[in-house]
Amino acid sequence: MREVNVVIDGKRVTVPEGYFIIQAAREVGIDIPALCYDPNLEVVGACRLCLVEIEGSRKLQTACSTKVRDGMVIHTESDRVVSSRKEILQLLLDNHPNDCLTCQKAGECLLQEYAYRYDVKFREHYGARRPSYVDTTSPYILKDDSKCILCGKCVRTCSQVQDRRVLSFGGRGFDTRIVIDADFNFDKSSCVSCNRCVTVCPVGALVDKRLLNKGRSWEYHKREVKCKVCEYGCSFEILSKDGRNVAVRAKEANGGRPLCLKGRLTTEFLYVDDPDKPYIKGEEGFIEATWKDALGLKDLLDKLLAHEEEEMGVEYNG
Ligand code: SF4
Ligand code: SF4
Ligand code: SF4
Ligand code: FES
Repeated sequence: MREVNVVIDGKRVTVPEGYFIIQAAREVGIDIPALCYDPNLEVVGACRLCLVEIEGSRKLQTACSTKVRDGMVIHTESDRVVSSRKEILQLLLDNHPNDCLTCQKAGECLLQEYAYRYDVKFREHYGARRPSYVDTTSPYILKDDSKCILCGKCVRTCSQVQDRRVLSFGGRGFDTRIVIDADFNFDKSSCVSCNRCVTVCPVGALVDKRLLNKGRSWEYHKREVKCKVCEYGCSFEILSKDGRNVAVRAKEANGGRPLCLKGRLTTEFLYVDDPDKPYIKGEEGFIEATWKDALGLKDLLDKLLAHEEEEMGVEYNG
């Protein structure tokens, strides 16, 4: 493949033709802020936070959707760029609850990180705010629309798996929000609780409900394990605190891995010291289940026990 040479913030880098500026910058350790970009998802250029200055170009360009050209000279932190970033971040914060103190995402939230990096603060704001609808109906996902920045990553990752496509943009203009099927709650929707959307959400708009009140992000020791349920081998993180495994969370579903609830619950059952009760979806929403049912083991165990009874003359009661 042909290669091109570019200069980013004074650093020379050679990358394959077709690379986006954001990818080339990462090659030389320059982290351009990005809220809607994800290398595993289709590029949409929605948040504008990654704007950079290219010599010879009058307008700022999005680093996530502009491809490098040979000889390009790029500035990622010029005065113009920084001032535009501050403006975007301020507008986002104006329409966002000042909830970092108790937000589950604090410490891992990209909006929080960039606000800190560019010294942008919450300020008095008397204008309209995003609707603050919170969906608490799923035992696996908490959806808080007031924190959503409409980056669309959740929509894109959910639609990567055929037959899911549960999330989409609903409403118009200022009232745009992420909707579940035709605006249902999680419990009445076709969502399969795989948590792909949670893994890509850059803020606290979609959080893993089984992590609530277990600890803050900086308190955990994290260890990656591969799921043992099927050949995809999706990745999960075991979160430990004070020497105990307290929770499991799904890692991003890159490399074509789908993620699923069975894999996540199996990983919880295997590793977590005192796992929360599992839930499965019934006609009327989520219902508490036995681990046997949740992991789909009932038929297998019944067959195994029957087999042992027959083969070895052992009798099991229940
Ligand atoms: S989503 Fe991020 S910025 Fe918003 S309250 Fe939570 S930690 Fe703070
Ligand atoms: S949990 Fe999975 S199926 Fe449900 S909305 Fe999120 S990505 Fe889609
Ligand atoms: S819920 Fe999260 S991932 Fe989805 S659009 Fe909102 S901020 Fe982005
Ligand atoms: S990361 Fe480039 S526009 Fe959002």
